Amino acid sequence: MTTEARAQEEPERQGVLADLDSQATTSFYWYLAVLACIGGFLFGYDTAVIGSVLGFLPYTLSSFVTGYLVAGASLGAAVGALVAGPLTDRFGRKSLLIVDALIYSVGALLSAVTVNVAMLIAARTLIGLAVGADSAMATAYIAEFAPRSRRGSLMIMQQWMITVGILVSYLIALLMFKIAPGSATGLDWRIILGLGAVPALIALALRARMPESPRWLLANGRYEATQQALAKLGLEVSERQVRQTADELAETERALERKTQWTPGVKRALIVVAVFFVFQQITGINIPFYYGPTLLQGYFASGSSAVDVAIAGLEAATILGVVNVVATFFAFRYIDRVGRRKLAMGGFLGMAVFILVAAFGVAQLTGLPKVWVVMLGFSFFITSFAIGVGGTGWLIQGEVFPTAVRGRAAAICASVDWVANFVIVQWFPTLNAKFGLPSVMILFAVLAVMAIAFVARFLPETKGIALEDVTAIFERKATGAH
Ligand code: BGC
Repeated sequence: MTTEARAQEEPERQGVLADLDSQATTSFYWYLAVLACIGGFLFGYDTAVIGSVLGFLPYTLSSFVTGYLVAGASLGAAVGALVAGPLTDRFGRKSLLIVDALIYSVGALLSAVTVNVAMLIAARTLIGLAVGADSAMATAYIAEFAPRSRRGSLMIMQQWMITVGILVSYLIALLMFKIAPGSATGLDWRIILGLGAVPALIALALRARMPESPRWLLANGRYEATQQALAKLGLEVSERQVRQTADELAETERALERKTQWTPGVKRALIVVAVFFVFQQITGINIPFYYGPTLLQGYFASGSSAVDVAIAGLEAATILGVVNVVATFFAFRYIDRVGRRKLAMGGFLGMAVFILVAAFGVAQLTGLPKVWVVMLGFSFFITSFAIGVGGTGWLIQGEVFPTAVRGRAAAICASVDWVANFVIVQWFPTLNAKFGLPSVMILFAVLAVMAIAFVARFLPETKGIALEDVTAIFERKATGAH
């Protein structure tokens, strides 16, 4: 019997956590997932929005500053994730999610009222930190209360909100440039950047009333608070039952003779998720988002002013953005049925095939056929990513670590994602200039095939398995036990 099959058959032995795991997924659970993922929306919004306004900032920007405004968010996010990890393990998920919403709000408001480049840089740095911190903890928070049969769908909300954030940023920029093209370098960019404050302030207000993660409370010996959090989640248990569960968990730990929290299983999970994230980025997902519009804007533009060209680029990006949002629905629908592994392998396979289609279009075609083939290739490439790769990364990051180190471990992985994101986006223009776009696209396809082999060999299936048993799977794999 495989390790995963055995974990699925293992008796439920975690008391109140087993009860939590088999709760019905009520609308309150969905509400909480969405609330936890408002940061995901802003992750998408804030990383995508800068590209739309960059050409209209009324400041003289050196190429270093331009690079920092675009890519600095990724580097800032790598730092933000690393800072948030230990803090969320120490102070809880909820408190950090509140602080995160506050930083997002301040960052967006500051961008809107910026008086000089330095202020804009400071605002963008704050936003970068918030994006990183969010990406380190949002799915961890959800994993810790989600009933196990719907855990995947609840956690995919993060990816969904990211995609909606990206799309909304294009739509708002489009709207502003169409309504007030004359204010592109005036009020428009301020409104576009500043609107990020609206969801951030809503999150700030609502997160204050969300329950703290019951697993985190339990792991930190806060039994009365665990009982209250469980009650908010619709589970009435006594404090004695909570204590009993804590004792059982401690007993399991003792039986396993764990001397450190960073066990071989945790380290293995850390490497698996980190490598998955590297593949999530280096297979090129952000290239159509960042460079697709530039590549295609010539075919879409109806006029020749800077605003016309920007609008054309945004229209192409919007099409890709819609594809991304719609396709993520399928991830949401199938992640708990088909499972993480199959979806990820299928996703990478689709990415490999369709980036080759787009590469063919770029290399061999001209005029309208080129636009069609490249747009279709990119669209299905994004669809494949959205169904199997994007959300799966953020999901496994939240579900494969034990509660005691979840914040820190998930944060390290998130940070790896952001560094990989930075490296590929930064490096792409050089690769492109040296080898040409079709060759770079072929390289992405090769990397996607390598990703399939990696998932097949190293990523265990975790659908429907209790969080505590997921940890055990990695522990067994790391020690070679079957
Ligand atoms: C990735 C981002 C990407 C987005 C696209 C996320 O999972 O981490 O880099 O821009 O998906 O939808």
